[in-house]
Amino acid sequence: MEIDVFTLFPEWFAWFTAQRHVGNALADGVRLACVNYREHTPLSAGQVDDTPFGGGAGMLLRVDVVESALRARYGVDPVELPRRRRVIALAPSGRLLDDALVDELAGEGALTLLCGRYEGFDERIVEHFASEEVSIGRYVLSGGELAAMVLCDALLRKRPGALGDERSSAEESFSASLGGDPEYPHYTRPAEHRGWRVPEVLLSGHHERIAQWRRERSRERAERLRGSVGR
Ligand code: 6GU
Repeated sequence: MEIDVFTLFPEWFAWFTAQRHVGNALADGVRLACVNYREHTPLSAGQVDDTPFGGGAGMLLRVDVVESALRARYGVDPVELPRRRRVIALAPSGRLLDDALVDELAGEGALTLLCGRYEGFDERIVEHFASEEVSIGRYVLSGGELAAMVLCDALLRKRPGALGDERSSAEESFSASLGGDPEYPHYTRPAEHRGWRVPEVLLSGHHERIAQWRRERSRERAERLRGSVGR
């Protein structure tokens, strides 16, 4: 899989790619490249952004700057790109990232992630160069970089062999095997700490009862999540 991240702050990703689990993925055939918009701007003095027409606060990433960076990377008119690969503009108003979308994206051979800064993108970038907009939650970050790292982290751990145990990823929160429900609670040694006992059933070695207990806890948590939505 190859992931290209377009950003004004490629140095943010140095920390991310230095982490062990990301490094492992990179050693194992994932290619993660950062492209700095600023290095490809056709404007003078490294300009990449501008004030919004119609007025208002903040600055927008310019469409000509993004076009030039995409063209330099892929050697085609970027209006062709969405037909060839998924080009994701990271924006707070986009489709909410969830396990199903992560699964979908993990199946792609190539991804392009566009990080906006300041107030975001000139809308023509999204309309003509991107295949979709993705958001990691209904709040506003100062840019798409952290969202891109969140997306990459979630993607990379879906890869076969990324986790020590293959079952870990199949049975984790929000996966199909749990019916989209959050995961059940886990416990490890000691079996008792300050009088806090691990649920007896987990120590019983009775696999069917354990599986049933886990399903129940999982559903309970799902119920609680539904209750908190909109609050
Ligand atoms: Cl993808 N970008 C920004 N700037 N803010 C966000 C977001 C993305 N997702 C949630 N908030």
